[in-house]
Amino acid sequence: MSEPLLKVENLHKSFGSLDVLKGIDLELGRGEKIALIGPSGCGKSTCLRCVNYLETPNRGHIYLDGELFGEKKVGDRHVHMSEKELARQRATIGMVFQGFYLWPHLTVRDNVAIAQIKVNGMARSEAYDLAGEVLRKVHMEHKSDEYPERLSGGQQQRVAIARALAQRPKLLLFDEPTSALDPELVGEVLNTIHELANEGRSMMLVTHEIAFAREVADRVIFMDDGGIAEQGPAKEVIDSPVNKRLKSFLGQMLERH
Ligand SMILES: Nc1ncnc2c1ncn2[C@@H]1O[C@H](COP(=O)(O)OP(=O)(O)OP(=O)(O)O)[C@@H](O)[C@H]1O
Ligand SMILES: [Mg+2]
Repeated sequence: MSEPLLKVENLHKSFGSLDVLKGIDLELGRGEKIALIGPSGCGKSTCLRCVNYLETPNRGHIYLDGELFGEKKVGDRHVHMSEKELARQRATIGMVFQGFYLWPHLTVRDNVAIAQIKVNGMARSEAYDLAGEVLRKVHMEHKSDEYPERLSGGQQQRVAIARALAQRPKLLLFDEPTSALDPELVGEVLNTIHELANEGRSMMLVTHEIAFAREVADRVIFMDDGGIAEQGPAKEVIDSPVNKRLKSFLGQMLERH
């Protein structure tokens, strides 16, 4: 078997006396799509944030593309990277949050291009070409000169996805990308994510959209109480859950939709 793109090894994270992640192990293959589901507060966001070191794990290691992520080895010891080293590594992962966090004073094109120009030192013309390319991918190129406040939530989220794509990331992380949206705007964002999935991109997605997870993900992981309680092929996990808590969770989700 080829080496996985992402390997999470014995990940622990606590906040004060609250143990949120109690030893997560997972692997994500190249081109694989994993949906992370579970009850509110079970640690899904924390897990995703630890993967790109937005949160520093208390224990355990992350490997991306075979390389230690967020840490380096000095002799036998693991030490944390400097912020600068971390920023360089983090740029290989694209993250999309529930909120869109676009710059209000920048156009759509500049929102997508700015990090490439300022952080990666890309020439403006090249960054604008790249912005055009990724905005086309999310069907937002026609709004390139618009400001975020004049876009719908769904359109803003698609611009945020384009911004993540502009990094040419090895891995995409989505943390409930549609839960801040009005119901009628959810579909367009899910369609965009579906198209990216069909391109063979590697992604990990936290979502409460169970039908979408079933359709798009290769594998579903159900987290409960800081650990992985059940995982397997998406349709299997969702259609024939074994874990009692997962059964009840899926029941509640179906009732809500
Ligand atoms: N920075 C923090 N400081 C203290 N506690 C935190 C912090 N971040 C998360 N927590 C706590 O850790 C637990 C897990 O939070 P997390 O956001 O990972 O849950 P979640 O599964 O993403 O939930 P939701 O579905 O509601 O988004 C919660 O009890 C939360 O209050
Ligand atoms: Mg969350």
